[in-house]
Amino acid sequence: MTAITFSPDVSGTVTDGVLVVTLDNPPVNAASQTVRAGIMAALAHLNGNSTLKAMVITGAGKSFVGGADIREFGKPPVDPILPDVVSAIEASEKPVIAALNGVALGGGLEIALACHQRIAAPAAKLGLPEVKLGLVPGAGGTQRLPRLTGVAAAIEMIGSGRAVSAAEALRLGVIDRIAGGVLVEEAIALAGEQARRPTRRTGTLPVRAGAEADLEAAAKKVLGKARGQTAPAEAIRLVKLAAHATLDTGLAEERRTFLELKDGEQARALRHVFFAERASAKVDGLEGVQPRKLETIGIVGMGLMGSGIAVSALDAGFRVIAVEQSAEAAEKGRTRIEDMLRKNLVSGRIDQTGFDARISRLKTAGDKAALQPADLVIEAVFDDYDVKATLFRELEGIVRDDAILATNTSYLDPDRLAAETRNPARVIGLHFFSPANIMRLMEVVKGAKTAPDVLATGLQLAKRLGKLPIVCGVTEGFIGNRIFSAYRKEAEFLLEDGASPAEIDSAMEGFGMAMGPFAVFDLAGLEIAWARRKRQAATRDPAERYSVIADRLCEAGRFGQKAGRGWYAYVDGKRQEDPAVTEMIAAARREKGIVPKDFTSGEITRRLVSAMADEGRKLMAEGIASRASDIDLVLINGYGFPAHRGGPMFMAGIE
Ligand code: 3HC
Repeated sequence: MTAITFSPDVSGTVTDGVLVVTLDNPPVNAASQTVRAGIMAALAHLNGNSTLKAMVITGAGKSFVGGADIREFGKPPVDPILPDVVSAIEASEKPVIAALNGVALGGGLEIALACHQRIAAPAAKLGLPEVKLGLVPGAGGTQRLPRLTGVAAAIEMIGSGRAVSAAEALRLGVIDRIAGGVLVEEAIALAGEQARRPTRRTGTLPVRAGAEADLEAAAKKVLGKARGQTAPAEAIRLVKLAAHATLDTGLAEERRTFLELKDGEQARALRHVFFAERASAKVDGLEGVQPRKLETIGIVGMGLMGSGIAVSALDAGFRVIAVEQSAEAAEKGRTRIEDMLRKNLVSGRIDQTGFDARISRLKTAGDKAALQPADLVIEAVFDDYDVKATLFRELEGIVRDDAILATNTSYLDPDRLAAETRNPARVIGLHFFSPANIMRLMEVVKGAKTAPDVLATGLQLAKRLGKLPIVCGVTEGFIGNRIFSAYRKEAEFLLEDGASPAEIDSAMEGFGMAMGPFAVFDLAGLEIAWARRKRQAATRDPAERYSVIADRLCEAGRFGQKAGRGWYAYVDGKRQEDPAVTEMIAAARREKGIVPKDFTSGEITRRLVSAMADEGRKLMAEGIASRASDIDLVLINGYGFPAHRGGPMFMAGIE
């Protein structure tokens, strides 16, 4: 069978009068200009050739089409633009069938929606994730999807950007069939059938508006998570428009909105985040380094952190051996882990088989000797140097020589801990964020002596756990907590200078942070930072600006929410401004002779974000972070920094 070349990455073959067009633009078959041009050429060939009755479009490799080419977004569009390609597919006289071999995302799904039939491999994933890039679908997604699924389901899918499985897509009406055997063969058969029937064009179908209540519930859910992002609300507006406007009006309004958002600040920031994530996976010095085999993860300590790590590892299919200091404590830990898993069973996140499989892979014990088979042991015990050092020395006598020892410390020095062991090359820091089974960030701390394959294994573990690993060097607090300390300090200086905790919190929440800094301090408790400040007191430069307010709070027993009072008072669990704190702040100002001034929200956010970026610059100069974008990812994924702002380094223009 001779292949017809339509463009450098689009080719076709003919079977039973059906033109099978394959898109081959690695790594993800993005709909780049040459792909678009190739599809147009294939359509012209189909409709200009009387021996052909239909066309199948499929993708080579793992993807159907991973979306529009995001690298083209910063540049002016080049013809043929995707909406024209999509319209040409829909308008084709002869039927076009989408054979979805893998992911069909964004523009990829939009191509499929314009086809006259859709058949998917069981493992295909379909979605319109544009909102995650600060966009709305720009090639008909907001107008065609609701014509297949109804308005409420389309609002949910487009507004959340969630990808659905082939099975769910079939249920929702997004696709017509799931292949039971060889996808392309079944697509060819379907094309043959379709050629004998009137062509069904998605754009001509009526929109099932559905019940107003369902629609509003879906919209409310999406908006509840949008936190200052523009795109989700725009997506909802466009999907609703589909219900009462003509296709042409809807498409024109969608395109106008897409182009406006594409050039906006939020989309620029979210594109930065997208590429930052891909860049973070590329770590210098690891080219060609093979990670060690990982099957069994050992965990020491089954508190909240250890249990969260256990659940995360069980979810990822690992065997887990979790130990505590006594059989009784181990039993308690086991109950905690089982309860966490059961919660996921009840909520439907896992099914009974999945639950049982996880439990069968979990072993708990009150004796560290049980850790012997572990390939990697993570300690998640109390953050005290002597406790951890003793533990690492003990572990050396238990685990195999090639097993990795990982510390989950937040502030201690992994190099010092490694030096306590005979083989520091196998020691690494794996800093999880709580709750560890939910939070996506993991700082992978490379010690001075950590072996490259140990680092590669840490990264692989993170990836298998579905986490976003960011490699960082050794410094007190690593990337995240160092920046957070700088943020804390600046927030306290702002208090001295005239702002109130509530003003600062409300400014940062308005900016898009999940919570304002003082609400976070109260939630986390003030005592750990206080202990650190006391430790640092002896070596602190007396000329350095220092705010005593937090110390005074702690001296007064105001340790935060758990204590019922901290930066705020908590009455019946409700946060309230507290005149006692206002007076402490006023006193601190008087002592320093500071005349308080008023701050706008913009001034507050600028000062706090600049403080983070300044600390980020230091981390880069010290070689702790290798890229500015890594720092942004840490703040976004571990500290509630709004992704649609791109991170403090992005905002400061630091590359
Ligand atoms: N455009 C350009 N490059 C892309 C891309 C895209 N849409 N999607 C992925 N890539 C690149 C990545 O940057 C990465 O490049 P690198 O190797 O140079 O770092 C490479 O492809 C591999 O990506 P991943 O590491 O993410 O590969 P995975 O196999 O883990 O995941 C994927 C594949 C599920 C397709 C994932 O890459 C993904 O989710 N991509 C983004 C999908 C998306 O958002 N599409 C919508 C685009 S907007 C759009 O379509 C607008 C339209 O409505 C007009």
